Amino acid sequence: MKRMTVPRFKRLKGKRKLVMVTVYDYTFAKLIEACQCIDAVLVGDSLGNVIQGLDTTLPVEVQHIAYHTKAVSRALGTPLIVADMPFMSYYNKDTAAKTAEVLMKSGAHAVKLEGGVEKADIVKFLTQQGIPVMGHIGMTPQSVNMLGGYKIQGKRPELAEYLIESAKALQEAGAFSIVIETTKKEVAKAITEAISIPTIGIGAGKHTDGQVLVLYDMLGMDPDINFTFLKKYANLADTITNALQTYSKEVREEIFPDDEHSF
Ligand code: KIV
Repeated sequence: MKRMTVPRFKRLKGKRKLVMVTVYDYTFAKLIEACQCIDAVLVGDSLGNVIQGLDTTLPVEVQHIAYHTKAVSRALGTPLIVADMPFMSYYNKDTAAKTAEVLMKSGAHAVKLEGGVEKADIVKFLTQQGIPVMGHIGMTPQSVNMLGGYKIQGKRPELAEYLIESAKALQEAGAFSIVIETTKKEVAKAITEAISIPTIGIGAGKHTDGQVLVLYDMLGMDPDINFTFLKKYANLADTITNALQTYSKEVREEIFPDDEHSF
């Protein structure tokens, strides 16, 4: 696979589906690089959930995203690396500039921020500084308290209209792509048809230009994570548990280490 760039990512809309996963550490990033099958990775603020064990992404700090972006960028040569701007790290142009500077200097090729029409001026400002921005609309987890929970978006016609207007405003502001999360598939389709930049869906049906999933969720690392939209492509929870049990048994029974694993 050729190294993914922002212009190439945009050009692929309508040609083939774009594939994205989140990633947070060097070892998983190495596997992603080796598979040569992923177009873009997101160092998502979902690290607050899967790495830090938090209920929401609100406590995630810029330094956390920067730390993980540095780690994954050491392993990646092919996919586009997008780093998430955490909660309250882009509420005005100054904070947005500082956050984006830290993340781009940590190895990101682009940043992602949540919000629609109301964030268009921030997106425009960042893109004017040469920083590619991915938008994120629909169910935006940083606004969980405003939304009243992690609810499906786009059910009411006026909200569907707001999402379409938001996508157009983000595109106009210079966003190169937009994530649509937990949104009715008809609305995600309408958004995808209304703009010329790629839409990347998560829980938004099949009509978006690409898909993103949280790596640990799609690998089945946590048996308690079972969203309707989530397909588990592996059951690593069982694989890892079995490996730990076998290791423990072998140490206790003095089977490991044997001569083969000794000097
Ligand atoms: O933080 C994250 O992982 C995300 C994806 C769910 C799109 O924003």
